[in-house]
Amino acid sequence: MSGKCEDQFMKTFKFYRARVPPPPLSKVIDVDNAAFADKITKLTFDNNVEQDDRLELLGLKPFAHWPVFTIKKHPGLIFIRNPFTSHGQRYWIRKCLEKYPRKPNKTNIDIEVILEDWWETCYEGHKCNIQLLKKLRWTTLGYHHNWDTKEYSEANRNNFPSELSELCDVVATYLGYNAFRAEAAIVNYYHMNSTLSAHTDHSEINLEAPLFSFSFGQSAIFLIGGEDKSTVPSAVLLQSGDILVMSKEARLCYHAVPKILSSPSSPWNDNVEDIHTKDVPKFRYIYEKDVIVDMNSNQNNGNWSIFNGYVQESRINVNIRQVLNETQSRL
Ligand code: OGA
Ligand code: MN
Repeated sequence: MSGKCEDQFMKTFKFYRARVPPPPLSKVIDVDNAAFADKITKLTFDNNVEQDDRLELLGLKPFAHWPVFTIKKHPGLIFIRNPFTSHGQRYWIRKCLEKYPRKPNKTNIDIEVILEDWWETCYEGHKCNIQLLKKLRWTTLGYHHNWDTKEYSEANRNNFPSELSELCDVVATYLGYNAFRAEAAIVNYYHMNSTLSAHTDHSEINLEAPLFSFSFGQSAIFLIGGEDKSTVPSAVLLQSGDILVMSKEARLCYHAVPKILSSPSSPWNDNVEDIHTKDVPKFRYIYEKDVIVDMNSNQNNGNWSIFNGYVQESRINVNIRQVLNETQSRL
């Protein structure tokens, strides 16, 4: 009897994982589609929230252009439909490919060979090493998630990228989570046939703090269920630029990615001509030389095309957690 109950999550997972025939998508919640209007609630925020100077710098649109929803069946799950500019998407995609897999950060490739700089190694010489390119499945930042013990430790910690903690800070503050601190991240790299099986994220000491999940590149079917696997999960469409926040009741719920879908659009390539060069001094002031160089180098030129090639057939998910309680500064 309990066996049957527990199977609900798995049943839905298998339904959406199927390849031939591909699963029907008619029940996958797409917040852009009016047919799902009764399943979601649009959240409006006090216009008291001041514009944040950091928005443009972080590749985010003004707050007035952030469509924020909750899914009625899953209280605590907050969905922000792509608040990124095209340049912003390019900026973060590049960070995930070029910078985050570098040492001292950890990747799944470490057990085979320690690469100082995975992306550079892939593009060494004139040709791309496709086999190595496809090998990267995850990289961890900050407190490194230990996949065996599932425990974080001080000995297994590096600096968390400042621009990424700033991004979380802006999103968290907008949603009212003023005390959130980004301390650990897993960047997941999915190919078109990748899946992520049902799990909960509970290794953090602080399970009250929300978890922030950013999606870039190809789309995904995301399943969100309840605190055990007996609840039939809902399927939600995640597209490039979408932010999912697992807070409150949703923080410890089962979730999974049974399928990657190829996206009919490439929002990272939309209207990229109008780069805001007028804001150079502001960028410089905050992040020294880093950001403006990155944003400018992502215009339609040779620099961007190799990253474009990657995200045309992959999905990147940046999954960010606070590990410590508010009063702690270490484990
Ligand atoms: C995770 C996770 C979901 C996603 O990394 O823990 O649940 O959308 N990722 O890839
Ligand atoms: Mn997870």
